[in-house]
Amino acid sequence: LFAGPISFLRSAPQLRFLPDPDVPEIAFAGRSNVGKSSLLNALTGRKAIARTSVTPGRTQELNYFDVGEPVVLRLVDMPGYGFAKAPPAVVRNWRFLINDFLRGRVVLKRTLLLIDARHGIKPVDGDMMDMLDGAAVSYRIVLTKADKIKATALDAVAERTRTAIRKRPAAHPDISITSSEKGMGIAALRGFVLDSTQS
Ligand code: GTP
Ligand code: MG
Repeated sequence: LFAGPISFLRSAPQLRFLPDPDVPEIAFAGRSNVGKSSLLNALTGRKAIARTSVTPGRTQELNYFDVGEPVVLRLVDMPGYGFAKAPPAVVRNWRFLINDFLRGRVVLKRTLLLIDARHGIKPVDGDMMDMLDGAAVSYRIVLTKADKIKATALDAVAERTRTAIRKRPAAHPDISITSSEKGMGIAALRGFVLDSTQS
């Protein structure tokens, strides 16, 4: 799937800039700095197709990437949420953009919801899960930066996360545990993305 060409298509700050809904899409969502752009790079095996940043909240648009030639899949790097210094107007715009996107995007097959393995699910992630469930968009929880904590702590967070998603109104698949830095869990997640585009 990712062996062919992959290219940046465009940034969509508003829904009217979205590409035509003609191929399946997979979106990457999560708090600012959780590692969305890094995971997109790791999955596609490109070093810097999506811009990563040490400054949280830099990305405020939906960033689109074309996979394949002809295009068979689009990856959507979503703006992060939950950064402390966000002005209320920015948070409001984010909510409207994301809610409308999730509710109206028929080609959106799945969302990967990234959670920092060191922190687990936070209340703002719960809000995001509510938006996803409310829009009937199925999502998979992906723990990120697994290289940053010890195996025992990782097991504990993974178990807590599984317990939390079992309580959700909609059914969700098992979680993924990844490190974009070390390549952990990336091949398995590629398989999941491939399956998602075909169902
Ligand atoms: P926003 O676009 O601001 O919402 O951030 P993002 O979610 O796209 O995060 P990004 O991929 O830019 O990564 C944020 C920081 O975390 C960068 O400094 C990355 O190098 C680092 N990072 C991402 N993934 C990993 C990982 O698996 N392990 C480690 N150790 N660091 C990571
Ligand atoms: Mg990013």
